[in-house]
Amino acid sequence: MNNFPIGIFDSGVGGLSVWIEIDKLLPCESVVYFADNANCPYGEKSQNAVIAHSEKAVRFLIEKQCKLIVIACNTATSMAVDFIRNTFDIPVIGIVPAIKPAAINSMTGVIAILATKGTLNSRKFNETKREFSKNTEIISFDANDLVEIVENGLQGTEQAENVLRKYLLPMLQKNVDRLVLGCTHFPFLIDDIKKITGDSIILDNPAPAIAKRTEYIIHREGIAAMSGNVRQISFYSSGNIDTLKKMVKNIKNENTLLFSQLK
Ligand code: DGL
Repeated sequence: MNNFPIGIFDSGVGGLSVWIEIDKLLPCESVVYFADNANCPYGEKSQNAVIAHSEKAVRFLIEKQCKLIVIACNTATSMAVDFIRNTFDIPVIGIVPAIKPAAINSMTGVIAILATKGTLNSRKFNETKREFSKNTEIISFDANDLVEIVENGLQGTEQAENVLRKYLLPMLQKNVDRLVLGCTHFPFLIDDIKKITGDSIILDNPAPAIAKRTEYIIHREGIAAMSGNVRQISFYSSGNIDTLKKMVKNIKNENTLLFSQLK
């Protein structure tokens, strides 16, 4: 079992921001990445729909013999992680907006969060927000349109800049000094964000912490890959795989990577 893959899923390409960090930290591990492009975006769907799509994604990864699941999607974690943990007998790691480090480290006492509507409306998110609202002003922006920008590979374009301005200019006016990237698609917009904010806002990307958590769990469970494991990295999409393929190849251009578009 140790050499079985780590399963990662997201509604689309966003979870690649988590995969990048897992790949850096755990270079011996095989990975199966599932992008649910046929149902993307999750951010505007009902909780029942997100639970149903997440369940299907996890079943697919378990069929591929995954030993652990990383839900590389804030929306799916916020809405479906309890269901997934109660349904499947497999270690599950989720991702939620990193409010705590941003609130603790803010110098101005004002932080912002960019996430999907689904994440911002979830009970999990609102509980954490309440906890840190005592000492910190937390401004949240529902930014589903940024998911579309990344899914369409529009980073670095004027269109991306125009959409980002709508969120970032009010943050600058309000003296925000930390911005939580509360959706795994958004780390792919870091260069575009910095073009507008310069160094005045520090960006909190939780992906490196998720990779560390994954490392910790596979060691705790005794399921880390054996040294000398000939690893395999595979990418599957339930919809159009083009953006996924393009982004992966920009990150890591190896001809051993496998891509499959599911019917
Ligand atoms: N990448 C997902 C997240 O972290 C959401 C994108 C979507 O709306 O599907 O929330």
